[in-house]
Amino acid sequence: MRTTMNELGLAARVYRLTKTYGGGSAEVRALDGVDVAIRRGEFTAIMGPSGSGKSTLMHIMAGLDAPTGGEVWLGETEITGLSDLELTILRRRRVGFVFQSFNLVPTLTALGNILLPFDLDGRAPSALERGRIDDLVDRLGLSSRLHHRPHELSGGQQQRVAIARALATGPDLVFADEPTGNLDSRSGAEVLRLLADASRAHGQTIAMVTHDPVAAAHADRVLFLADGHLVADKPRQTAEQISAYMLAAEAETEPRTDAAPAASVASAGALR
Ligand SMILES: Nc1ncnc2c1ncn2[C@@H]1O[C@H](COP(=O)(O)OP(=O)(O)O)[C@@H](O)[C@H]1O
Ligand SMILES: [Mg+2]
Repeated sequence: MRTTMNELGLAARVYRLTKTYGGGSAEVRALDGVDVAIRRGEFTAIMGPSGSGKSTLMHIMAGLDAPTGGEVWLGETEITGLSDLELTILRRRRVGFVFQSFNLVPTLTALGNILLPFDLDGRAPSALERGRIDDLVDRLGLSSRLHHRPHELSGGQQQRVAIARALATGPDLVFADEPTGNLDSRSGAEVLRLLADASRAHGQTIAMVTHDPVAAAHADRVLFLADGHLVADKPRQTAEQISAYMLAAEAETEPRTDAAPAASVASAGALR
């Protein structure tokens, strides 16, 4: 019998994933042979320097962008073989996404944006979902902003609306791209508690990109990308351990004048 993704406890998986943008001399290899499995119910942080491929990886894992090569699985489904419609339905029912740039609909109020996943699915929130939305709005401090449009909100408020929208349907799998990037430390801490609760209390799977070692320290597992490669995969770390690793990895990739180019993948691996 074939081993299914469910039996393996995997919420998402990419295998030999590559993504190139552009062509010829302008070609950028954003992802270069990445194998990652995101375990069901876990809170996984994804870290790495700017331009290392974090957003590209999240978009492809969520079925928002197509890979150049390799396989992409969401739960038990290999999504590269799906039609656009099948993929849209799977994503709408199962996946929440917090974009680095928020992607709110400018003509809708904050509440309209939060309810958008239900509108797109052609249904109203159930009583359970209305309770969840009220709780999210409350915890995210959005109660007095529900009837404002995005341009009337601060960056941090827009980010919190985007988080409420991603969690409103209680999706199995939530991708969040730098969800605390525009928040002060108090609302950032509340967002991290929300994401940690979503995984610990509700069994949702969370994959979060962050630059912040303090944010990543909330996760069960920390993945590091560099230059389109996965260079480390670590269990829960303290913020201090994460900072120390990042500093060491940066030092490894500083240009050297004296020797051969640093073998960043191998040396970062050795730091584990
Ligand atoms: N739409 C695009 N067209 C061309 N290059 C892109 C595009 N999106 C990302 N890139 C390039 O791919 C690489 C990885 O980008 P990205 O995934 O956004 O990195 P990160 O999120 O880690 O900062 C970068 O070199 C970036 O410039
Ligand atoms: Mg990014």
